[in-house]
Order: sequence, then C-alpha cells, then structure tokens
Amino acid sequence: MFTIITGSQFGDEGKGKIVDLLAKDYDIVARFQGGDNAGHTVKAGGKVYKLHLIPSGFLLDSRVLIGPGTVLNPEVLVEEMEMLEDAGIPVTPEKLGIDAKTSVIMPYHIEMDQLREAARSEKIGTTRRGIGYAYIDKVARDEICMADLVDENLFRARLAEISAQKEAAISQMGGDPSIVLDDKNISHYVSLGKMLAPYVTDVSLEINRGLDEGLNVLAEGAQGSHLDVIHGTQKYVTSSSTIAGSACAGLGVGPTRVDEVLGIVKAYITRVGAGPLPTELEDEAGKHLHDVGHEFGTTTGRSRRCGWFDLPLVKKAVYLNGYTSLALTKLDVLTGLDPIKICVGYMFEGKQLDYPPESTSALSKCIPVYEELPGWNTDLTVVDSYENLPKNARLYVEKLEDKIGVPIKYVSVGPAREQTFEK
Ligand code: GDP
Ligand code: IMO
Ligand code: MG
Repeated sequence: MFTIITGSQFGDEGKGKIVDLLAKDYDIVARFQGGDNAGHTVKAGGKVYKLHLIPSGFLLDSRVLIGPGTVLNPEVLVEEMEMLEDAGIPVTPEKLGIDAKTSVIMPYHIEMDQLREAARSEKIGTTRRGIGYAYIDKVARDEICMADLVDENLFRARLAEISAQKEAAISQMGGDPSIVLDDKNISHYVSLGKMLAPYVTDVSLEINRGLDEGLNVLAEGAQGSHLDVIHGTQKYVTSSSTIAGSACAGLGVGPTRVDEVLGIVKAYITRVGAGPLPTELEDEAGKHLHDVGHEFGTTTGRSRRCGWFDLPLVKKAVYLNGYTSLALTKLDVLTGLDPIKICVGYMFEGKQLDYPPESTSALSKCIPVYEELPGWNTDLTVVDSYENLPKNARLYVEKLEDKIGVPIKYVSVGPAREQTFEK
C-alpha cells in the first residue's frame, strides 16, 4: 500500500503527529520535498521531538527515507541524528536512507536566502534556511548532491566548478563572497559527507521493490498545499511542490501505485510568514487560537498568524491533492469559543465566491463570508472517542465533513498519540 500525507492549509497542520500515529502500519516512511524549513512535532511517551528532516516515522520500526526531491542541510541532519541518539534512539544506516541525488544545502545558499530576503521591499518571511537557493541550483543543474558530498574528490571538484558563479552572485547581492570557498566550511562539509556516506541509497528503487513485495509505504509531506511553488499563493510560497503529486515525482513512484491520499486539516487555520490569510483574526478569538494552540513556528519560533477555518482554501486543497480521507487536528483548541465561525466563501468585487480566486492579489482582497456554529466548553483533550465528544463539537466536525465532501477519518484532540480517535 502506498499512502501520501500532505498538509491542506499553510503548513503546521499536525502532519508529524499523524505520521507518527500511522507509522506502526508502515514499513517505510519517506520525505519527498522541502528541507529543514519543515518542523514536525511528535509527542510520544511523554517526550516531544521536533524534526526538520528525519521523517516522523522514526520512533517505530519503519525504515525512514529522505528522497531526492528534498534539499538537505547535512549539518542539521547530523544534529537531529545526535538529538535522537541522546534520547536513546540510535539512527543507523539500517534505519535511515538518503537518496544519492538529494541536493545539499550549502552555507552560501543560506547566505543568499538571507541577503535576498533582507533586500526585498515586500518580504516573504522565509525560514532563512537556504531552501529556495538550493532548489534554484537543482533546476539550474548547479547543485551539489549527496553523491558528491560523500566523495571528497567529487565534492571539491564540483565546488571548484561552481564557486566563481556563486561568489559573483553573493558579491552582487552585497554579501561576503569568501563564504563560498571558506576552508573551515569546506572541511566541515567533507567530514559531514564521510559521516553520512553509509546512509546513501536509491530511494525510488527501495520503495518500488518494497511495494512489489507487498510492503506499506507512507509519504510524508512538508509545508502545506497553499505553500506549493506552482499552485500556492505565489510569491508567498515555499520553493517545492507540496501537493500529493509531488510525492510521486519526488520519490520516483508512478501515480498508478498510489492507494490513499490523507489530508491533514487543522480545525482553524494558521500561517507563518507573509501572504494572504483571508480569515486572519486580530481579536480575542485570534488570541485564543494562538495561545491555546501554542501557535509558534517549530523552525523559527515566530508567532503563527491565526484565523477561522477557511473552507474555500480546503476545497482547493482537495482538488490539488485528490484526498481520499482527512485527519482533523487541534479540535480541542476551539473549546471555549462561542460562536465558532466557518468561512464558507468570500466577497470579492461585489460577488460571492465559494472557491479561492487564482490570483494571489485577488485572494488578498477577499472578505470572508461566515457561517456561525454554537461552541462548547468541555475539555476535549481527555475525550477518547468520537461518540464522547460534546454534541456541538460533533456538529462542527460533521458540518466540515459535509462541506468539504471528503470523509474525516481521524480526529485529534491533543498533541499526544493517544489523543486521537477514528470518526
Ligand atoms: P506539522 O508541521 O504539520 O507537523 O505541525 P507542527 O508540528 O509544526 O505543529 C503542530 C503543533 O500542534 C505541534 O506542536 C503538535 O504537537 C501540536 N498538535 C498536533 N495535533 C494536535 C491536537 O490535536 N491538539 C493540540 N492541542 N495540539 C496538537
Ligand atoms: P511544516 O512542514 C509553515 C513558510 C515560511 C515562508 C514560506 C517560504 O512544518 O508545515 P521557505 O523557507 O520555505 O523559503 O519559506 O514558507 N514555511 C512554512 N510554514 N510550516 C512549514 O513547514 C513551512 N516551511 C516553510 O514561513 O512563509
Ligand atoms: Mg510544522
């Protein structure tokens, strides 16, 4: 079985938690896009793990893979491996595999991301992890990939080939070009390459052979559908394709092999960084969502912007991903809000829309049209089954399910694995 999980909104929907929950049924869990801009939180056994690169299936027996569609900062990966090691979870080459074609994030990518962001008059609010510039190099065929990194001669030859161009670009951006051939950086990367050499693999081959043998494979998306580089709220997007089709392209698995596409949907909406968020709240309800939901970015610590559930955006995510089912997360955060609002459409230039306009600037001018539902006051974090939810919480879930038109399979009422039930 091949299942793809993606975020249906702007990221941070709780993908990490749901992947950890489902990983027990999967032999392989693989990341297919993005890099350490992602921050996936897993709470298990009373411990909280914040992962940027290692797939959230690491706690179970699954093999975890980082596919060639991702961009990888080896320093962050090694820190993450050490963090897990310290927590008593050894990360061995039997456990983790990284594709040989995965693009490596170099220190100059991070520098360029920061210089470009500082120079923008209208900022995107990137995570400043060098993601965009690493993808630019992949597309321009100027990347250093894992196969280069783990072979010192190849790595140095590749750097020599591209360094002049990178130095010129950094100088032009007003930065210090010496970062490109900095001796300390280069020898650090050489040693990281030696450390990571045993982990290098062919992810597409592993997954396809696994599927042939009847193994179960779970593809873990990063970011969210509306941060997709093609279909998102351009220019306020990340630099990879975040939707389900990207799992096939990024892992090298044909679309005919996909069985399930599970969308992760937060019971309200959040966004980190700039870009339109039609239902954004700057009132008491927004403060409630932010404070009760602990809405701070896992990667950058920035405050997440919060708003009511935006149905048009989720409907678009259904089309972009072809969801077969959904997991609704953070329902517990809505406790105490009354009424609870659902944005069912937008007013734009005197007309009511039930689907987001394709232009980002038009979306930024949309005024939400709300339906109101009654709230509840019961603490949901201790509820252990759908039937035991208060009536109004069930009403909210069923209203969303009806309007989205895709079955809600899981409901999550807290960060821990056990705070989840099937609907
Ligand atoms: P991801 O990027 O999609 O994996 O999501 P993040 O981990 O960045 O953000 C989700 C946050 O909400 C994390 O801190 C999770 O531990 C937490 N979380 C996940 N599901 C729930 C839930 O149902 N209720 C509450 N209160 N917190 C949750
Ligand atoms: P997870 O996987 C939320 C946002 C950044 C910025 C934009 C571009 O945890 O859901 P980038 O550094 O990618 O060039 O920044 O994308 N962004 C995320 N927002 N969750 C994420 O990942 C994100 N990864 C990137 O805030 O607005
Ligand atoms: Mg996150």
